[in-house]
Amino acid sequence: MQNFLILSGPNLNMLGTREPEIYGTMTLKHIHEAVRQRAAALGVSVTCFQSNYEGGLIDCIQQQRAQAAGIVINPGAFTHYSIALRDAIADARLPTIEVHLSNVYAREEFRHHSVIAPVCRGQIAGLGWRVYVMALEALTALVSE
Ligand code: DQA
Repeated sequence: MQNFLILSGPNLNMLGTREPEIYGTMTLKHIHEAVRQRAAALGVSVTCFQSNYEGGLIDCIQQQRAQAAGIVINPGAFTHYSIALRDAIADARLPTIEVHLSNVYAREEFRHHSVIAPVCRGQIAGLGWRVYVMALEALTALVSE
């Protein structure tokens, strides 16, 4: 069975209470449940992981990449400056979709630029918790082509 990594970066463990007017009220635990449910329907499996640390995400990518068919990642603020995370994704050579709950392009200018996007197949932003499920659907379709 194909396995996909579902990764979330700093402060996303606080979803549910973190700036709900921007990020919604769904907790990361509930998002992971929704992703797992969709994965079961699609006939794939997921490994969900969150870290507030750049190195935690990089270690996870390095350790899991051999068993993974693709990555869904919400890099949080690392989106805007982590070359180290970008390098780990590039080196994994797995189809990767960058997701954001909020519409980063409608927010502060520093959120408009992603150093991660150039090493991704695509990006989904602004649709709330659903971006994780949509990215899993897209990846599943991409890898079965
Ligand atoms: C975010 C957008 C980032 O700019 C921010 O730093 C986050 C969350 C999002 O999901 O909308 O932590 O990635």
